[in-house]
Amino acid sequence: MLTATDRAAQLLEQLTVDERAQLSAGEDTWHLPAIPSAGIGRLKMSDGPSGVRGESLAVHRSLSFPCGTAVGSTWDVELTGRYGAALAAEAKLKGVRVLLGPTVCIPRVALAGRTFESFSEDPLLTSRLTVAYVRGVQEHGVACCIKHFACNDQEHERMTISAQVDERTLREIHLPAFEAAVREAKVWAVMSAYNRINGTFCDEHEWLLTTVLKEEWGFDGVVISDWYGTHSTVEAANAGLDIEMPGPAQHLGRKLADAVSAGEVEGAVLDDHCARVLRLAERTGLLDEAPGWGPSPWQTAAAEREEDDPQRRALARELAVSGTVLLRNESMLPLDPALRRIAVIGSNAEHLMEGGGGSSMVAALQHTALPDALGARLPGVQVSYEEGCRVELAARPLDCHLIPEGFAVEYFGNPDWSGEPVRTERRWSGFFVTFGAPPGGRPGEPFSVRARARFTPDHAGPWELSLATVGKATVHLDGRLVLDHTRPEPGETFFGRGSATTTASVDIDPGLEHELEVRYVSDLPGLGGFRIGARPLAAPGGIERAVDLARRSDAVVLVVGNHPDLETEGRDRPSLALPGDQDELVRRVLEANPRTVVVVNSGAPVAMPWADQAAAVLMVWYPGEEGAAALADILTGAAEPGGRLPITFPRRMEDVAAWRSYPGADGRVEYGEGVLVGYRQFDSDGTEPAFCFGHGLGYTTFEYGEPRLDGRGDDMTVSVTVTNAGTRRGGEVVQLYVAGGPSPVPRPEQELRAFTKVTLDAGESRDVVLRLDARAFSYWDTDVADWVAPAGRYELRVGASSRDIRQRIHVEHGQ
Ligand code: BGC
Repeated sequence: MLTATDRAAQLLEQLTVDERAQLSAGEDTWHLPAIPSAGIGRLKMSDGPSGVRGESLAVHRSLSFPCGTAVGSTWDVELTGRYGAALAAEAKLKGVRVLLGPTVCIPRVALAGRTFESFSEDPLLTSRLTVAYVRGVQEHGVACCIKHFACNDQEHERMTISAQVDERTLREIHLPAFEAAVREAKVWAVMSAYNRINGTFCDEHEWLLTTVLKEEWGFDGVVISDWYGTHSTVEAANAGLDIEMPGPAQHLGRKLADAVSAGEVEGAVLDDHCARVLRLAERTGLLDEAPGWGPSPWQTAAAEREEDDPQRRALARELAVSGTVLLRNESMLPLDPALRRIAVIGSNAEHLMEGGGGSSMVAALQHTALPDALGARLPGVQVSYEEGCRVELAARPLDCHLIPEGFAVEYFGNPDWSGEPVRTERRWSGFFVTFGAPPGGRPGEPFSVRARARFTPDHAGPWELSLATVGKATVHLDGRLVLDHTRPEPGETFFGRGSATTTASVDIDPGLEHELEVRYVSDLPGLGGFRIGARPLAAPGGIERAVDLARRSDAVVLVVGNHPDLETEGRDRPSLALPGDQDELVRRVLEANPRTVVVVNSGAPVAMPWADQAAAVLMVWYPGEEGAAALADILTGAAEPGGRLPITFPRRMEDVAAWRSYPGADGRVEYGEGVLVGYRQFDSDGTEPAFCFGHGLGYTTFEYGEPRLDGRGDDMTVSVTVTNAGTRRGGEVVQLYVAGGPSPVPRPEQELRAFTKVTLDAGESRDVVLRLDARAFSYWDTDVADWVAPAGRYELRVGASSRDIRQRIHVEHGQ
């Protein structure tokens, strides 16, 4: 057993067995309980990972940062460290001691709903960025809870599916980022995944949580279950689960104390769990009145703060620029300053999707439409906009554009809005969700909500209102019933437990004040909510109007992409195709004007059957709320797109080995591809991707000199002189892949083993040093249960992507 730090050990002595057990489970959705007699306040946790939401999506807004794949595309360790520090500052505004991130699972199948949260398909790239992120956050006294341990690689049956995976695949592909976070960044918390591994739920997986994580890697932090992902008392506690979330406890807490009394769990096990929680409390300043925090551990959500900090906003923009990948450029970008008429097309251009759907969402502080951001940078240029076609099936939730004063919300502790409200508040979003206890009430109690807003449409003509609920609701506009969910049709909203989305079209006078009222009643304990959106009804002929505008313009910026209901936690995408008529829109616009830049706004690979015809293709991922500004900088050449693909873009899913076993059958999914995930497979079997791992262009070009090898064994470096051969300053990600070597087991054709990002002025040269660590030549040998690096001749490939190898050098390893 690990010894707690002195302070935590002293505190442990003061606590009764019951109090120790109380700290093993949440008291509500986001907090551990306080133990006032010992001076321990409530420890708050919050999502994560691309911003810090706080207790509610709608009550306070937060700076929205680029999604995981965008950060993965930066390949920038230093920048990711600064990002971590900014997240810690955001966490402090909300009083959050534990940030639920980063997400470091390795996507096997790009259609997995949470691919956008992960950094990369490659364990080394993921590990380097994870270590930087975790250090950046934790240096400021906020804990990271790295997730989801392990193999939460698909949303299909995510709460029960068993990942059938061999140990070599785990060790080489799916565990390294967790291992690096523990061994190098000393992460303070780990979240156990919902799914099972080889038949055992992760929260009950003793090998995973205790043998590997706590004993082998020396993890001294806490293991927290994913929300509602605790399955038992005795098995989970004995396997190494420290905290059940959310509260109130169903399996740990009181039941853990009882299990200790009954002798089913040893007292020392409880003490070890509790010592870990106290250590976390100490590390995150919970035991002191640490300066610099927004709400104290004794305050409620009302004390959370919003702050628009210019430095953090600038960092969000830097990340978005640095993570944008220029996939193709036929002398189109940066845009020619002589252009006079630019068409901006696509509904995502007006509402760039900032983040993916699910628990990672934050309510952004600001929204900027691309036509406005571009217009502001190009005085004298006519920037015109057409939507083209709709991307989303229903409108996005109402926000401050359409309800400038937000919703005035009243909560009632009964199912019929009777008596005085138990709580009132202002909410900024039409997306309302509660987990666990209802606002102002106790878990399991029915509650009702009345939410009123002043609705200010910005376009004349007919509008479409939409509603999804988990529970019952009605929507009245100016006293008239427009949407009725008193008997809602079941659907897939709200993590698959909500209704279908229904819509109504209404004629609205733009100049007038409109009263919108939602009346809602919960009907499920633990989960409640509604989502109301509004948008102008699409006028027919959208694609024709867009084509017409394209024809009349000197150049086109066409933004296509996904929407948060399609790319989300809780659901995998059905295919790589862009939703709606977007492929048709791209095809028609390219025909009308070949000088078109297609901008892709999705968090994961999509099919681009038109890519070869576009003059330029930019992948902006989900770039956070500075995305439109970053994109305007890139288009005009004020900044260079700095990203390189952290994930292979397949031409079709049939080319992906993991696809053959996805999504599994009978509750099991075989990881039959083994270590051949992403480029490891494509490069081994010679499959041509649409865009390969590591690919990305800049606005300049680089030349690579002859590589030089120094050192031996575990301390080897490869140096290469890189020269900016273009005419402007720019960045390059120098990548080193190890190939060849003798091996008794099949190994991937090549594996990324080192990389460095450099930025050079035109004509400047720099010696780039790539360090190979002890595992650079190794594979996991299951027979000896260790890493083995066979002695022999290997090829080191240095290049600008996995398929753009510029230099090769051979090395005799182990001799
Ligand atoms: C997600 C976690 C998240 C938690 C709390 C779960 O549904 O899987 O990633 O941190 O909810 O929101």
